[in-house]
Formats: sequence, C-alpha cells, structure tokens
Amino acid sequence: MVYLTRIERFNAAHRLFNKNWSAEKNKEVFGKCANENFHGHNYYLHVTVKGMPDEDTGFIMNAKELSKLIKSEVTEHLDHSNLNLDVDFLQDVIPSTENLVIAIWKRLASKLEPKQLHCVKLFETENIFVEYYGE
Ligand code: NI
Repeated sequence: MVYLTRIERFNAAHRLFNKNWSAEKNKEVFGKCANENFHGHNYYLHVTVKGMPDEDTGFIMNAKELSKLIKSEVTEHLDHSNLNLDVDFLQDVIPSTENLVIAIWKRLASKLEPKQLHCVKLFETENIFVEYYGE
C-alpha cells in the first residue's frame, strides 16, 4: 500500500466556549482560549490517501486533484473564517482542533472511494496537532 499526503493551509479565528457553562467555568477550563473576542491560528492540514499505483498513471491519486478536493470541500470554507460563527458544517460544535479534524474527515471521506482516505492530520500550532483515522 502506498500513502500519499497533500498539505494545505488555512487561517481562521475561533474561541473555545461551551454555551451550557458559566463564564467562570469556561475561563477555568479553556483559559485564554475562551476569550470572547476570539483568537486566530495558522492551521496546517495534512491529508493522506492510500492505494496502489494505477497502471496507466503510476499514481494512487492525482495530487493536484487531491489538492482541489481539499480546497473545495474544506479550506475554502474555513480560510479567513470565524470557526464559531461562519461555517455551516461546524454549527453547534466547539471548534477545538479535535472536532475540526473529525468534521474535515467527514467532508473528504464523502467525496473519496471507501477506505481511500487514510489519515487527516491538523496542526493548530507547530507544537500541537491532532490525527484522525476515521474511527
Ligand atoms: Ni485556539
């Protein structure tokens, strides 16, 4: 099996906040991330697909097509957005990196062959990233 990874980037604002909690509890759990005026991140998104090379192309998937798919399904919706307010597929979700990576996986998996998507990895900072394998 061969694994192909495409990296895309987006910038977005968010705030970690549970609307069912008091302001005090939000501050206690999320600290500065609960700041009501939001804050931003430069996200790096790594999307890995798997397969065996096609006999005619030598590709498991055209990397440019994968890039287009990531842009149309994910980064065009998220880039320069407010993740709490602007994104239809993140309504009613706390926009943590963990919840984001699951939402991104669902959008990409729905447009790929079954089992073609291997991993979605999302870097919130250079020191923090999450990975999701669909389970
Ligand atoms: Ni944050």
